[in-house]
Amino acid sequence: MAPAITLDHTLPPVVPESNQTPATAPTNTLFSLAGRTVVITGGGRGLRNDPDNRQEWIAVQKLATSKGLQATYTRCDITDEEATKGLLENIAEESKARNMPLRGLITCAGIQQMVPALDYPVDGYRKMLDVNVLGTFIPAKHFSRILVEQKTPGSIVMIASMSGQIANRGLTCTAYNSSKAAVHQMCRSVAQEWGQYNIRVNTLSAGYIRTAMTDALLKEKPEVEETWMCGALLGRLGAPEDFKGPTIYMLTDASAWMTGADLRVDGGHCASA
Ligand SMILES: NC(=O)c1ccc[n+]([C@@H]2O[C@H](COP(=O)([O-])OP(=O)(O)OC[C@H]3O[C@@H](n4cnc5c(N)ncnc54)[C@H](O)[C@@H]3O)[C@@H](O)[C@H]2O)c1
Repeated sequence: MAPAITLDHTLPPVVPESNQTPATAPTNTLFSLAGRTVVITGGGRGLRNDPDNRQEWIAVQKLATSKGLQATYTRCDITDEEATKGLLENIAEESKARNMPLRGLITCAGIQQMVPALDYPVDGYRKMLDVNVLGTFIPAKHFSRILVEQKTPGSIVMIASMSGQIANRGLTCTAYNSSKAAVHQMCRSVAQEWGQYNIRVNTLSAGYIRTAMTDALLKEKPEVEETWMCGALLGRLGAPEDFKGPTIYMLTDASAWMTGADLRVDGGHCASA
């Protein structure tokens, strides 16, 4: 189907996103997301809060309200292009009306599956690529179309994994690892296309984090934790909080000249063999 929006490809001025040069901006301005709306996919649980868990969601809302901010969530299958496009357009419109334009996207939704490659069912492999690869591309594409139309700069953080660069010892996750490698290359490719619109695209490659996703895996194979701890140079696995600083850095003007790059945050796992 032909896309509904006709894009005006006139370029926005290439200036840092806050209109202040990084050299003159105070540090708190450089790392500030004030006046911007950021969309996060896959916010249902794990690295973030579970909207079904009322307590956590209420706490997030309370915090947002106390700071004069708004936190909302919507259920959407990110592999459904029309639904994702419509949702992003609605968010962009509402954000504009609140004078907090859409400026950031974190593509975090993903799935993981452990199956030996010799037995990997093709349907399962396809599903992995559908959710992890297309499910990254679809929101990134429609977010960027909106920004090009709005003529505003922005930043996309694609949650990849160290597994896009290394094969995890003791884990049989060929499809997952391939999908994350695809996200790395997608990032470089779209960064190359969208830099002209001042849209930055980078990947954040996480190491082993205790989340619902990894809890399920460790329940199935408890011995794997020992292998993971061998590479934990800081003596622990990651926690969701370890990604707050890196993500804010990648979304804000603090990283104004960073695009098409990968930031690996893995507690040193990939640094030692
Ligand atoms: N936990 C880790 O150790 C680890 C390490 C490296 C990278 N990652 C990556 O971090 C991201 C988040 O992982 P997590 O550990 O929080 O996992 P999680 O399973 O706890 O969260 C994943 C989220 O994605 C959502 N999701 C899945 N399919 C979707 C779809 N089709 N449409 C919309 N949402 C969908 C799920 O509902 C869930 O909220 C993933 O991309 C994962 O690959 C995790």
